Amino acid sequence: MLVLGIESSCDETGVALYDTQAGLLAHQLHTQMAMHAEYGGVVPELASRDHIRRVLPLTSACLTDAGRTLADIDAIAYTAGPGLSGALLVGASVANALAFALNKPTVAVHHLEGHLLSPLLADPAPEFPFVALLVSGGHTQLMAVHGVGRYELLGETVDDAAGEAFDKSAKLLGLGYPGGPALSKLADLGDATRFTLPRPMLHSADLDFSFSGLKTAVLNLVKAQDNLDEQTRADICAAFQEAIVEVLAKKCIKAMKQTGLKRLVIAGGVGANRQLREGLNEACSRRGWQVFYPPLHLCTDNGAMIAFAGAQRLQHAQAAGSFAVQPRWDLSTLAAA
Ligand code: KG4
Ligand code: ZN
Repeated sequence: MLVLGIESSCDETGVALYDTQAGLLAHQLHTQMAMHAEYGGVVPELASRDHIRRVLPLTSACLTDAGRTLADIDAIAYTAGPGLSGALLVGASVANALAFALNKPTVAVHHLEGHLLSPLLADPAPEFPFVALLVSGGHTQLMAVHGVGRYELLGETVDDAAGEAFDKSAKLLGLGYPGGPALSKLADLGDATRFTLPRPMLHSADLDFSFSGLKTAVLNLVKAQDNLDEQTRADICAAFQEAIVEVLAKKCIKAMKQTGLKRLVIAGGVGANRQLREGLNEACSRRGWQVFYPPLHLCTDNGAMIAFAGAQRLQHAQAAGSFAVQPRWDLSTLAAA
């Protein structure tokens, strides 16, 4: 079965072709980062308009790369939420129009399910069940994943998401948007011992997170500096990254112990963070656990994860064919496949 996947929930237009026999055949991505950078964040209307411009050319490029035609497509998966309404509607409209013209089914995919299942596109892929840390720009959740659609929420952020904390702290340091990768890069040049930042909820009994205090601590630190030179900014970045990575890693370990599971999966944009990967690799190998990540280029938003999640749902006979988007959509409300 050949599935076309379309992602347009935020500021990336992603299109991919996933074949249930042959795997990922092609994927194309256009990021709107440069366009939104000027405004310091995503402008929803601009995002929608850009998705409209990109989605069909990217689809054609995918088909060319894969040596396939529209007629070869068996189903079309698209991100139906959560995300920006207008942006979601672009992908949903194109997917449903194409599917109608081709007389093929559509499947509405939950964006976070796409992230959650994306490590299954890696080789080796994890087997179910596993603990998943979902760390994106909008979400930070720990889940026990028992199968496709069988997601048990173990803990989540009570305020800012980890990616949001990276982005907001980066902004305070004048690193532009989105700041996560830039902050991480500058942190490599910094001394993490010069400043100490708080580790919010590190010792709380639950598996929840809180990152807004950490961002405020960065703000206070920035304000307290007489000279915010390059080295000082790098040292703040290093202290911030160390604090956030320590909290994420310790909560993962706690979740693994609590569930008794032996496989950990990291998904979402912050999963691209090198220090987080190094910390988790070390912590897991010491305890005899396996840790899995999506391929690096599939950590942030992309069409491949949507095509893949759609294929999983279709294989479990969950074809939807509905035409609705859900800007707010709780992952734990999904039915088991
Ligand atoms: O999963 P994603 O592409 O979008 C959402 O669904 O939100 O994640 C984007 C987030 C942004 O906050 C970005 O700053 C962060 O992932 N990010 C990183 C890194 N690469 C992306 N954060 C820290 N280190 C990175 N290397
Ligand atoms: Zn995402």
